[in-house]
Amino acid sequence: MYFMQFSRHLFNRNSLNLNTLFSKMAWLCSADSNEGLVNKLKEAKIIESERVEKAMKRIDRKNYVSFKPYADSPQTIGYGATISAPHMHAHALENLENFLKPGMKALDVGSGSGYLTACMAEMVDKEGKVIGIEHIRQLVDLAKLNVQKDRPEFLESKRVEFIEGDGRKGYPEEAPYDCIHVGAAAEKTPQELINQLKTPGRLFIPVGGNGFQTINQYDKDSSGKVTKKSLMGVIYVPLTDAKKQLRDEY
Ligand SMILES: C[S@@+](CC[C@H](N)C(=O)[O-])C[C@H]1O[C@@H](n2cnc3c(N)ncnc32)[C@H](O)[C@@H]1O
Repeated sequence: MYFMQFSRHLFNRNSLNLNTLFSKMAWLCSADSNEGLVNKLKEAKIIESERVEKAMKRIDRKNYVSFKPYADSPQTIGYGATISAPHMHAHALENLENFLKPGMKALDVGSGSGYLTACMAEMVDKEGKVIGIEHIRQLVDLAKLNVQKDRPEFLESKRVEFIEGDGRKGYPEEAPYDCIHVGAAAEKTPQELINQLKTPGRLFIPVGGNGFQTINQYDKDSSGKVTKKSLMGVIYVPLTDAKKQLRDEY
């Protein structure tokens, strides 16, 4: 089990199995530089694809989070949100690699800092497109600022667009997508997101309640048939209402 997301609430939960939780210690990939971090993720075999390595080396985390950008743990970005841990970003990009080929279209639900959206945009290249959807307006603005600072051409060319909205409904205006990544946990299988996948297409999403979830991979094949695979146990913040998230933060 990987320790990928946390909120201050999690440490109060007495159901944590810390032995299991810490067994893989993936956050030992922390480093002093972006290059060092990606190299450690590669040594740990969390990154295996050259395309993922290249994307994560080109998108420097320091442009997306100022506090400990190269620590392999989630960091707060305000408004009750975190930037996910680098090892989790690496897992997501590895899993979605075949659905982030040049020219493909992707949706990043809960885009937060904009970091993963930018990595996905790096992978789909000039002909591709990535939509980041986030329900907190201030985080939409933050993501735009971060990408503007890092890769302004992504915004100018509309390779990347950030939308304010409830990501639980996806973003049907731009559907269908080759892949959808979700950065917060859904309580149950989100049919609306599956409906917005191409044939073939893949959804990568944490599912479950009470702070413990599994990352589920939903594959829609070329005939439209959907299969589910559970990949690993995780702890993510929930997909929720904007008002509730802001209220819980204070
Ligand atoms: C753990 S953070 C990950 C953020 C981003 N992937 C990153 O690494 O910077 C989860 C994000 O999901 C957002 N979120 C939660 N519920 C949402 C919803 N219903 N619609 C859109 N975004 C949501 C949160 O505001 C937060 O930014």
